[in-house]
Amino acid sequence: MQKPIDLRRVTSPLLPEIDEGVARALSGLQQSWQPSAELRQHRRFGTERDRRAASTFLGMRYGDLIDPDRILLANGTQNALLLLLSALGHRGGTVLVEAMTYRQIRDVAAMLGLHLVSVTLDEDGLVPDALEAACRLHRPSVLYCIPTVQNPSASIMSAERRGIVANIARRYGVVIIEDEAQGLIPGHAPPPIGSIAPEITWTVTGLSKCLAVGLRIAYVVAPSAAVLRDTIAPFEAMAFWYVSGVSAALLSHHVESGAAVELAKAVRREASDRQAIAAGLLPSGMLKGGQGLHVWLSDPGASGDRARAAAFNASVLVRSASEYALDGDRDLSGIRVSLADVSRDELADGLHRISDVLGRLSDR
Ligand SMILES: Cc1ncc(COP(=O)(O)O)c(C=O)c1O
Repeated sequence: MQKPIDLRRVTSPLLPEIDEGVARALSGLQQSWQPSAELRQHRRFGTERDRRAASTFLGMRYGDLIDPDRILLANGTQNALLLLLSALGHRGGTVLVEAMTYRQIRDVAAMLGLHLVSVTLDEDGLVPDALEAACRLHRPSVLYCIPTVQNPSASIMSAERRGIVANIARRYGVVIIEDEAQGLIPGHAPPPIGSIAPEITWTVTGLSKCLAVGLRIAYVVAPSAAVLRDTIAPFEAMAFWYVSGVSAALLSHHVESGAAVELAKAVRREASDRQAIAAGLLPSGMLKGGQGLHVWLSDPGASGDRARAAAFNASVLVRSASEYALDGDRDLSGIRVSLADVSRDELADGLHRISDVLGRLSDR
């Protein structure tokens, strides 16, 4: 048996810049902050300085500076989703999601008693007619979606489709929670839906993929400062979402020095280099997604479960389409392949094996 190569986890690739940057940020922090004062406070919403740093960092994606009073810091995207869906969903109510979606949204929905309904996807993301039909039929309060480097399909929704989706949501009074887990990874992506329709959109930018998962920080941009305070008010005394003081102080210091943006750009370059490796090794007719930290391979001749099993036999671990569908449909086609969590050599080895496996599957 060959050594297994695990291409399941999508995270920020290991870069030497991370160690150097964090070491510098830690020593800078040691000189400038007062732990005795700062660690004795809750960091609800993040401090003013944290939210200004968030606005600076998000400038990389939005172009303009977001009003810091529209921003809150939470303990990662999952934590933000739990908070936002607690506030915006209603027990027993419906939340629309993409036909294949981030797996843990199911866990969050189960915790909160929310009913998920999936909306068909095409290569540009949510299909407008299907979205409108779901809004009419199910009267959802929230749409949760991942327009930029969709998980798992890796698609990036066009600006035009984002506008159409926003208009449908507006018409049916649906609030959008936009998950930008990989929003900062592509060099070129249309603006977030939160820029097109800020009045109905909450955009969550987790830092797990573009900086480091261990920080456990996500920046949440609300429709407005007033909506932010009103929406979160029922949960203001619940400390589960108050960001950790050490993490937030470290991150804000890292942003203020300019190092966080440089590191995110290094991750973006690494993603682009790894995409080039994937494009050179994987069958072009099946390959989807050219800008994120993962790719999607779709073979109409075989289900994702079969392709995953064949890859497993070649000692490569990938995820199948069925893992992302609400009904777990085992006949769905497609596998998700992470480019991020192994060395470049291991990646090339794993992609070679996948290419062989898919070639053999389609020859049958
Ligand atoms: C779409 C999506 N959202 C959220 C997350 C988790 O983010 P965080 O580590 O910020 O909770 C992931 C990570 O796998 C993801 O793919």
